[in-house]
Amino acid sequence: AVPRDLEGVRVLVTAGGTREPVDPVRFLGNRSSGKQGYALARLAAQRGARVVLVSGYTAGLDEPAAVDTVHVKTALDMREAVEKHAADADAIVMAAAVADFRPTVTAVSKIKKGDGEPDAIPLAKNPDILAGIVESRSAGTLDADTVIVGFAAETGDENGDVLTYARAKLARKGCDLLVVNAVGEGKAFEVDDNDGWLLGADGSECALEHGSKSLMASRVLDAVAQRVVRSRDE
Ligand code: PMT
Repeated sequence: AVPRDLEGVRVLVTAGGTREPVDPVRFLGNRSSGKQGYALARLAAQRGARVVLVSGYTAGLDEPAAVDTVHVKTALDMREAVEKHAADADAIVMAAAVADFRPTVTAVSKIKKGDGEPDAIPLAKNPDILAGIVESRSAGTLDADTVIVGFAAETGDENGDVLTYARAKLARKGCDLLVVNAVGEGKAFEVDDNDGWLLGADGSECALEHGSKSLMASRVLDAVAQRVVRSRDE
């Protein structure tokens, strides 16, 4: 049976990928299917949480039952929706794959192929939504007890060392937990299964064994449940 250990806990989950429009028919995007984030939202609700799911584009997934789903298109939309709901969340779990860059302008009409070389597409950096949430917590705009979980999809360095880089990323991002997925051909993005590591700001590290994205979600929510309860007990 599914434990009801998140009864009444308010959880904000991001999922899917953002799309940054180039022109009316083209975009910059990524391979996120939303499956991992939707599994987290669905399971959190089954465990008793009140869940808001901020969803980018997915592989046509149905909205999870008993979850308040907000659909967004771009990274800027996602930031707005996350900022709107963050103050009401006890835990924020950011499984979305947010585009780091967007075209500085979106062409009003379809860019034509033309005869010559194509023009370059100038890019602007998107805001780091997770970093903004961590900053708001430090600044006191968000409750100090808010549990913040980041995800990292990494290909590793030339030696395939994902963990060293991920530890540095956890420190840099300032979240409480970082879920690390090794990505590569047929891994993490789009597929139904996943594995990786769960790194804690407290120095804890555990391997997340290979299995379904629901299994991965349950391991992540176990860690969230521990931290939410502990911070409330203090
Ligand atoms: O959707 P699926 O097909 O099921 O695949 C799941 C997944 C692989 C997409 C997911 O498990 C995952 O790892 N998501 C994070 C993907 C990623 O590329 O992360 P990142 O290294 O770009 O970003 C790190 C963290 O910062 C993430 O929590 C991300 O949501 C957040 N971020 C990133 C960029 C940005 N501009 N704003 C952010 O908030």
